[in-house]
Amino acid sequence: MDVFRMTGPSRLTGTVDIRGAKNSVLKLMAASLLAVGRTTITNVPAILDVRIMVELLVRLGCVVDYDAEAGVVSIDVPAAVGIQADYELVRAMRASISVLGPLTARMKSAHVALPGGDAIGSRGLDMHQAGLEALGATVHLDHGYFVADAPEGLRGTDIALEFPSVGATENLVMAATLARGTTTISNAAKEPEIVDICTMLVEMGARIDGIGTADITVTGIDELHPVRHRTVGDRIVAGTYAFGAALSGGDVTVRGVGLDLMPNIANKLTASGASVDDLGEVELGDGTVGRGFRVIGPERPRSIRVATMPFPGFPTDLQPFVIALNSVSDGVGLLSENLFEARWRFVQEIARLGAKVRVDGNHALISGVEALSGAEVEASDIRAGAGLVMAGLRASGVTEVSGIDHIERGYENFVTNLRSLGANIERVAKRDILSFE
Ligand code: EPU
Repeated sequence: MDVFRMTGPSRLTGTVDIRGAKNSVLKLMAASLLAVGRTTITNVPAILDVRIMVELLVRLGCVVDYDAEAGVVSIDVPAAVGIQADYELVRAMRASISVLGPLTARMKSAHVALPGGDAIGSRGLDMHQAGLEALGATVHLDHGYFVADAPEGLRGTDIALEFPSVGATENLVMAATLARGTTTISNAAKEPEIVDICTMLVEMGARIDGIGTADITVTGIDELHPVRHRTVGDRIVAGTYAFGAALSGGDVTVRGVGLDLMPNIANKLTASGASVDDLGEVELGDGTVGRGFRVIGPERPRSIRVATMPFPGFPTDLQPFVIALNSVSDGVGLLSENLFEARWRFVQEIARLGAKVRVDGNHALISGVEALSGAEVEASDIRAGAGLVMAGLRASGVTEVSGIDHIERGYENFVTNLRSLGANIERVAKRDILSFE
């Protein structure tokens, strides 16, 4: 059992390059199932979740070539792919459910294990189900599997989502690309990752209008073709380092993601007293060109008020960093969580570092303290884990974060990057008291 051990306080200073978004690339890989032949995806981050998706595609009968260092995944999709996403994989990574739409559309049947409990809320599948049923599939539960069948193929229809769900929008757009006729999806999610997936689908030949808006129209066609596509940069990882700079009084240049993908984030950083500069187009370490920005943190941040919302609102995935920043701020900050009801496990952990957080319903009131003090804490999900690392860097003394497999699901080279930014952090082995060998 490894942990991240850090000694603080330290300021993050330097430059970090960000690769493609986890929450895009996993769906781009699922979308490859829609076309027979070899699809190649570039700018792929070296994270655990990509490996899980590779395993899922292999089990479905694809031949997958993954070069983690180069950041390239090539997927050879056969004419007949398997239709089952096993519980083992869905349990390890909920995003496995994004094969549901592509499999139902192309193979006319999908058996996808139900994800079950999750550390950040109930996260139902009702909108995925209702959408597929509207597209003409029958859906039922069988021995823990979500089974969708459409023996005659899917047919276009009008779908109004109750809530702009990221996962449901993606599954339904992918399914609709091969349906007969036209599908409209209203109240669709608008996240940059959805734009990226729609862009790849269009490159594959799909006919999609309204990309990036709440009203998406998909005109079904008979067949898509494989493509080569570059993944959009990870705005949440970029935001993680940006908040790290702001809360540690640091100075970090982030390359590979532009502020255009981060509305309502730069203004919150500025409100905390940080300065945020748009650097426009910059050259990255690997010679490619992308957008970049620089964040210089204040000596001590001012408290901020944030409410999480679907894009273009403030992302729920950056919520732990807002709490961490407010914990060391001069004042009382507020975080209202509007997407996931159970994202508060982080609060119990950051309290171990001395943070003063009071939760009432979906609101967290955070009274800033002069200094946090290092302690042992545990990551309950990807973002909570990264948030604890950022708080630990600002705390005085030694902090140990366990449950780091969560963090490695979504952050590539986290320790290496933080060390290059001047943090005193390492990954160390620790004996698990429950293993009595
Ligand atoms: N919801 C339903 N029914 C549905 C679908 C969603 O009730 O059929 C509810 C969920 O329970 C939740 C809310 O709607 O309360 C939002 O869910 P959404 O479908 O938008 O989220 P998701 O697709 O499950 C993705 C990201 C999350 C990110 C959210 C919100 C991936 C793999 N995951 O989840 O990312 O927090 O959108 O932006 O794309 C992460 O990266 O750490 C992460 C959790």
